[in-house]
Amino acid sequence: MPISLIVCTDNQNGIAKDGKIPWHYPMDMRYFKSITEKNINPFDAKSRNTLNSMNIVVMGRKTYNSLSNKYRPLPNRLNIVLTKNRKYKSHGAMVVHHLTDIFDYVDHNNIYIIGGKQIYEQCLELSIIDRIYLNTIDHDHKCDIQLNMSTYLSNFACTFSHEDIDQHAIRFGIYDKIMG
Ligand SMILES: NC(=O)c1ccc[n+]([C@@H]2O[C@H](COP(=O)([O-])OP(=O)(O)OC[C@H]3O[C@@H](n4cnc5c(N)ncnc54)[C@H](OP(=O)(O)O)[C@@H]3O)[C@@H](O)[C@H]2O)c1
Repeated sequence: MPISLIVCTDNQNGIAKDGKIPWHYPMDMRYFKSITEKNINPFDAKSRNTLNSMNIVVMGRKTYNSLSNKYRPLPNRLNIVLTKNRKYKSHGAMVVHHLTDIFDYVDHNNIYIIGGKQIYEQCLELSIIDRIYLNTIDHDHKCDIQLNMSTYLSNFACTFSHEDIDQHAIRFGIYDKIMG
């Protein structure tokens, strides 16, 4: 099954500020939920969910801790949290200590890498990502964590693009790994 990465950046490559995502765009939230929970692209009528097994969302310990209690763990998805801390315990999420542990699930589950920067960068540098869902907001949110996704896209082809307005313009792009 594919390993996908899903990220939203602002127009300065910002992804976070003060330990949180500094924006709230309902359209982006609904898209994230639809993709990671059901494998359905709400902007693409051809998109179909062909899976019966539960999807997996993988995130770093800082991202997991940044989720509000209401969304922790993210419902209807197996939440996997990465930490080097052997004593870290979480109610409702599976805790793993090596990125390679996620390969135990790759045969049966769609896996979504959902952040944050440390986890995105390691996955991209290891070239384990088959598909990137990259949403870009046309606004500067004055973030203190940046991730320049354009540096990683040379081995990917844009296979879907949709633009919409939710307070600011948002571009929903899908990039698939170029094979061979
Ligand atoms: N805009 C977006 O789309 C988006 C998406 C997701 C998150 N974010 C934001 O990104 C920020 C967090 O990013 P971040 O880079 O600071 O932290 P992060 O990637 O969420 O988590 C980092 C932590 O993950 C653990 N870790 C990292 N690599 C590991 C490895 N190879 N093996 C085991 N554990 C590993 C470590 O936990 P320990 O220190 O416990 O060992 C590390 O401190 C948050 O503010 C969040 O809101 C933004």
